Formats: sequence, structure tokens, C-alpha cells
Amino acid sequence: MDFPLPDRPGVPLDEGHLRRLRERPLVPVVLASGHRALLVTRHADVRAVLSDGRFGREAWSGGTLFARTPESLALAAADPPAHTRRRKAVQAWFTARRAGADRPRIEALAERLLDEMEDAGPPADLIARFATPLPYAVICDVLGVPAGDLGLLLPWVSAMMSAGRFSAEEVGAAHEGMHGYFADRLAERRARPGTGLLARLAASSGLSDDEIIVVGYGLLMAGGETTSNFLAACVLELVSRPGLAARLRADPSLIPAAVEEFLRWVWFAGTGGRPHVVLADVELAGTALARGEVVVPLT
Ligand code: HEM
Repeated sequence: MDFPLPDRPGVPLDEGHLRRLRERPLVPVVLASGHRALLVTRHADVRAVLSDGRFGREAWSGGTLFARTPESLALAAADPPAHTRRRKAVQAWFTARRAGADRPRIEALAERLLDEMEDAGPPADLIARFATPLPYAVICDVLGVPAGDLGLLLPWVSAMMSAGRFSAEEVGAAHEGMHGYFADRLAERRARPGTGLLARLAASSGLSDDEIIVVGYGLLMAGGETTSNFLAACVLELVSRPGLAARLRADPSLIPAAVEEFLRWVWFAGTGGRPHVVLADVELAGTALARGEVVVPLT
């Protein structure tokens, strides 16, 4: 089986693929890079891969599932101790308390975008007018990067997050552009400290300039692209399930549970998580794995 699954339309996975993934805890697949790997399908085994030091992300050098270089999402591509250090530098900005404090501003922005869409009348482009601007405006605000620059940044994000639509040259050029942009913003924050995570990291983080730049645009993409696709996919699901939409309208207290369930159910073209290399012989799901084998946790 090829992975990511080719030509798979729709948000939920079709029954045939679901059955194949449910049947076995480790499913042999061929990655886009041509490497053979085992897809890890069970929750406990995924947790084991993500937390056991015998599985390493940095050791994966066969290209990524995405057409991007390993540095593009530094956190997702790093092992301890680099991972621990970088994550520690940013994690205080991503607490439930901070999210709660930002909530009124995010709600007001969502309301404004919806009002503008309504005022413009049909047809409405949900992705361009809501699903993209909302999360990107929020993450730009968190980082302290002008949301007005998104016209420049989003085409680079598309190439960097692409699963194969762009050539290696295009992806490389996007990386260069993005790196240069965040290097400029970092230099600005050094000259004129402002608010936002980038300014905080520039002032004191123990991270190198390159790490700050990569963590910065990694967060822009990780926070923007996922959430934007997720919002659009949720609406698609609701449109195709009028019964569910009606239930949620009738009883909005059900919405938080529905969001949790969507987070589990909606899956983005099945790209899975970062491939991990087995660093020392280990048993997973009752199977002995040898050093050098590759596993992909279905995160
Ligand atoms: C619906 C929204 C989101 C989804 C579905 C999602 C999904 C994921 C997944 C599947 C991973 C694991 C990737 C892997 O195994 O390699 C991940 C990692 C990550 N995500 Fe998200 N994400 C979402 C929103 C966000 C947001 C809003 C942010 C930041 C503002 C964010 C930041 C990150 C970071 C930094 C990592 C790497 C974590 C690490 O390795 O320590 N994500 N996300």
C-alpha cells in the first residue's frame, strides 16, 4: 500500500482503507520517497513511538512525507535534547490560560469575518474568507508578525507543506523566502523590541537565531495550515451531515464534544506523522523491530 494514500477524496476515510488500517497494528507501506515503512495504527503503539527514545525522528533522512526539508518544522523533526530545549522556549505561550485570554479577540475576529462574508452575499468562498484568514491572523498575532504580510507568506507555506505538487526547486525557493522573511523580522525585533513570541525569543530564549527563525515559521505553518484545513473540513462534514448540523444548532452545548470528535475523525489526506527510525532493537505491537526500520505513527 502506498502512503500517503493516493487519490482519496473526501474528509473521512473510506471503509476499505479503514478496514485495512484496523486489521493490523503495523501496516506495511511504501512512502512517497520509495522507502518501506510500517504504519503504526493503534493509539498505545503511537504513544510508544512518540515517547520511547529507541525511536528517533532526527535519524530520518529519506525525505519527509511532505516535500519539505526537515528544518521546516523543527519541533516535529527533532529529538531530545534539542527538542526539549526548543519546546521549552515556546511552551509557556501555548497554555489553556493564554488561549482563554485570547478567546474574546478571536471570537470578535470570527464574527467580523462571518459578517463580511454575509454582507458580500453568495457565493461565499469559505476558505479564502474565513478558514484561512482566521487562524493565520491569530498565529501572526501570537508571533508578532504583521497579518498584512500573509499575501507574501501563504504561497511559500503552500509549497513548503505540499505533499508533492511543487518541484524541489519551488520548495527550496519557498524555504529560502520564508527563512529570509523571518530573519528580517527577528532583526527588526532586536532593533525595536515589540510584543509577541518572536520578540520574546529574540530577547531571551537560549535559542540560536536559526532556531528562532525556524521555530517561528514552523509555528506559523503548524498553527495556520492545520487549523485552516480543519475548519474547512469540519464545515464540509457538517454540510454532508445535515442531521448532525441540525442537532448542534438545536443544542450548542454539544459543540465542544463535536469538535473533539472532528479532531479525531477528520484526517488530512492521511499523511500521518513524521517517520521515526528504530535506533535500537525494540518490540512494538508484539513485533520485533530491528535497528534501521522505519515506522510512521498515524498521528
Ligand atoms: C486542528 C488543528 C491542528 C491539527 C490537526 C494539528 C495536528 C498536529 C499533528 C498531527 C502533529 C504531529 C506531527 C508529527 O507527528 O510529526 C502536530 C504537531 C505540532 N503542532 Fe499541531 N495541529 C493543529 C494545530 C496546531 C496549532 C494551532 C499549533 C500552534 C499554534 C500547532 C503546533 C504544532 C507543533 C509546534 C507541533 C510539533 C510538536 C512537537 O513535535 O513537539 N498545531 N500537530
